[in-house]
Amino acid sequence: MDRLRNDMAEVLFEEEQIQARVRELGAEITRDYEGKDLLVVGILKGAIVFLADLLRSIDLKVKLDFMAVSSYGDAMESSGVVRILKDLEQSLEGKNVLIVEDIVDSGLTLNYLVQNLKSRRPASLKVCTFLDKPERRQVEVQVDYKGFSIPDKFVVGYGLDYAERYRNLPYIGILKPELVK
Ligand code: IMP
Ligand code: MG
Repeated sequence: MDRLRNDMAEVLFEEEQIQARVRELGAEITRDYEGKDLLVVGILKGAIVFLADLLRSIDLKVKLDFMAVSSYGDAMESSGVVRILKDLEQSLEGKNVLIVEDIVDSGLTLNYLVQNLKSRRPASLKVCTFLDKPERRQVEVQVDYKGFSIPDKFVVGYGLDYAERYRNLPYIGILKPELVK
C-alpha cells in the first residue's frame, strides 16, 4: 500500500489502531446481544471493510444482509436525497437489527435509513458506525456504537472512497489537496 500512501497528506488512524478498536466494538456488541439473535445490516459500499472485520469480532450467531443507498454520487457533499439502490432480502419483523455504516456526516443518510427500517417493525434497532463527524450534523441521529470521532475533514480508506477510489486502504487518511477536485 506504499504507492497509495504517497497520495495522503495525513494518516489519521493506522491499521493496528483500527483493528484494536474494531475488536473492542465487536466485544461490546457480543456482550450487549448475549443470548439474542442479531441481524447485521451492512450499508454498501462504504461499510464493507469495517463490516468484514467487525463481523469476525462478534462471537454470536449473526445473520447478515445488505442495503445500498445513494446520497452522494461522486461529490463530497450530501445531496440530502436518499435513494434505495438495493433493498434487504429479509423481513425485519421481530428481529434485533444492527445497522453498520462507514461514517455519519450530515446524518441525512442514517436518519433516512433508521426511519425506513423502523417502519418494518424490528424488535430493536441500533446503529454502529466506524467514523463520526459530529461537527457536520444537520439532523440528530442515534449512534449506539462508534469507532472514532473525527474533525470536519474528508477522509478515505477502510471502505471510504473519494470518487470510488481508495476504499482498499487499510488505514484512514486525508488526501493531498492537489488530488481533490
Ligand atoms: P451523510 O448522509 O452526510 O451522513 O453521509 C453519509 C455518507 O457520505 C457516508 O456513508 C459516506 O458514503 C459519505 N461520506 C461522508 N463523509 C465522508 C468522508 O469523509 N469520506 C468519504 N465518504 C464520506
Ligand atoms: Mg461514498
